[in-house]
Amino acid sequence: MDDYLKTNRLNWDDRAALHATDTTGSYRIDRVLSGGSSLHALEASEIGDVCGKDIVHLQCHIGLDTLSLKHLGAASVTGLDFSSIAIAAGREFAARAKAEATFVEASVYDAAAALGHRTYDMVFVTWGAIHWLPDISRWAKVVASLLRPGGTLYLLDGHPQMFQHEAVDGRLSLAHGWRTPHDAPLLFEESHTYTGDTRPLTHKRMYEWFHPLSDIVNALLKAGMTLEFLNEHEILTWRHYPGMVETGEDQFELGLGLPRMPLSFSIGARKTGQDG
Ligand SMILES: C[S@@+](CC[C@H](N)C(=O)[O-])C[C@H]1O[C@@H](n2cnc3c(N)ncnc32)[C@H](O)[C@@H]1O
Repeated sequence: MDDYLKTNRLNWDDRAALHATDTTGSYRIDRVLSGGSSLHALEASEIGDVCGKDIVHLQCHIGLDTLSLKHLGAASVTGLDFSSIAIAAGREFAARAKAEATFVEASVYDAAAALGHRTYDMVFVTWGAIHWLPDISRWAKVVASLLRPGGTLYLLDGHPQMFQHEAVDGRLSLAHGWRTPHDAPLLFEESHTYTGDTRPLTHKRMYEWFHPLSDIVNALLKAGMTLEFLNEHEILTWRHYPGMVETGEDQFELGLGLPRMPLSFSIGARKTGQDG
């Protein structure tokens, strides 16, 4: 693992420890522990029927969505994340929820080997995932390698156009390039995590890479996937800019008076071949 990913892992270990003991309500822990789902309305409406499916959740964080997929009827769920603290939290939540789930500690790029070259009906990736990854082509190959023929990817994440903007004096200003080179990531420093938790982060630095939609789609097509949908949305599940307005449960939109732009996007893609 290179130094950028090691720095990010320290940051995510800190966040995982805070999120696993969250008292802000952002992580819907009680709901999942009592058999419910932490999925937001958007992904719940787009993933389709998960009943009977073997699902792998990449960058599963503390595993709450992983367990939610099981509660929604998945045959099996496996969460993978490179943070040992996140994986330990996922295992503990599974035990407390009495839900069958497997949690594996590994980098996304090592997922195939870490999962024993097992294949799945669905790869699930949501909210705050691929901008932590330098190489989107390599990611797409990993996704395809984890799917059975006919299996699907559901990806929902922050929109690259949104990530390019920073809030400056109440306006959104174009601040970052549209395609981050592998070897020149953007460095950010944050004293606190995004949930509103007042406990500070110890490891404040993180490296990110913004990927244009065309790179993501073309990487998936090249990896042998076919595109079923590409949707753009005016909503996010966190307050990315000051002044964003909460328009639903954990659903935020740009404040009135700002020109609209897509804040998130979702992709449904299928691995070419017969249904497995
Ligand atoms: C914002 S969280 C994703 C949240 C997730 N959608 C959920 O269900 O809570 C991002 C996650 O990506 C993980 N991550 C970042 N880079 C990674 C990598 N290279 N390999 C594996 N996991 C990674 C972090 O540890 C963190 O748990």
